[in-house]
Amino acid sequence: MTGSYLAHNYHPLDVTVERGEGAWVTDVTGRRYLDCLAAYSAVNFGHGHPALIAAAKAQLDRITLTSRAFNNDQLAPFAEALATLAGKDMVLPMNTGAEAVESAVKVARAWGYRVKGVPANRATIIVMDGNFHGRTTTIISFSTDEQARADFGPFTPGFVSVPYGDAAALESAIDETTVAVLVEPIQGEAGIIIPPAGYLARVRELTTEHNVLFMADEIQSGLGRTGTTFACDLEGVVPDLYLLGKALGGGIVPVSAVVGNADILGVLQPGEHGSTFGGNPLASAVGHAVVDLLATGEMQERAAALGARLQAALRLLVGHGVVEVRGAGLWAGVDIDPTLATGRRVCELLAERGVLAKDTHGSTIRLAPPIVVEKDDLDWAVDQLQAVLRELGAQ
Ligand SMILES: Cc1ncc(COP(=O)(O)O)c(C=O)c1O
Repeated sequence: MTGSYLAHNYHPLDVTVERGEGAWVTDVTGRRYLDCLAAYSAVNFGHGHPALIAAAKAQLDRITLTSRAFNNDQLAPFAEALATLAGKDMVLPMNTGAEAVESAVKVARAWGYRVKGVPANRATIIVMDGNFHGRTTTIISFSTDEQARADFGPFTPGFVSVPYGDAAALESAIDETTVAVLVEPIQGEAGIIIPPAGYLARVRELTTEHNVLFMADEIQSGLGRTGTTFACDLEGVVPDLYLLGKALGGGIVPVSAVVGNADILGVLQPGEHGSTFGGNPLASAVGHAVVDLLATGEMQERAAALGARLQAALRLLVGHGVVEVRGAGLWAGVDIDPTLATGRRVCELLAERGVLAKDTHGSTIRLAPPIVVEKDDLDWAVDQLQAVLRELGAQ
């Protein structure tokens, strides 16, 4: 059931999901699979988390959309809760991750002209090679992935790309036109790439020193996935702007946000930016329930504990069909020996065994199960990976 009426912008595995609960989904034939992708971390808290579903259902019965032409009673409390969680004082609510990134780009440019004093239309933003921030035209303008860009030009100017994890390269790229550095604290789509220890702290130092905004795209890495609220917390680093999405909507509705202090987000004036759906009551109610879940710290602790277990189990596969394992918390990039099989093939064989995962960049598979996954199920998923590798001829 792939749907011949659909544009071919995805190449899904041959599994048609009908329902889900916790870390498990069931297909149309009744077969169950352990979801080890969790919708690219949008389902961090599991399918149908009772508190999130209850918040959504209650709000469905009240009101779902007002537009920002009027206030709604859910938005301000959600913004306050999210700002408090992030230790910041303002929230700019949007819907998709790409919109949060686009919004941050606009905020950074406006801040650059109005606060920093960069000459009109000269602002530049430094981005990282291998980045993934979404699919809109401006965002792909600074992608280094040719497949993401081919035939979609002309591109938006004003971006400079430097090698990820190279603080010296970043430092030499900063000049008087630089308004922001946009960085994923861990590069997700690139294959769960962890920068060298101390890198994010150095980004913080350099951006502070040069009066440049540090914008952390935590859309995939944030909200519990790495065992902390934000991946930046792993290095004790606080960026100027957090870009959030995916799990903020609890896997129920698209909710994204840019979160920062008023001296930056406060540059936006009425009429300069917006979204019909951004900050709608349903999204706000669900987003607020997500923040409440994270505020207890239980999800983060669980991700850290289960993550340590996952990383240790995966490391035992190195040399047995796996070339390298990278990870943080409940998030792992597993490089399959390319002489054995592609990442895609491994994911197909995993699906046959009841585990859903997704390949990225040829031979890497990424594992990001919902944080509510049971530890026995997690162990079982790694066993299935080992069995697949053996089936493919690994020692
Ligand atoms: C780091 C990062 N930023 C932005 C996005 C874009 O989010 P969306 O697909 O909701 O537009 C993604 C999506 O994978 C992402 O991983």
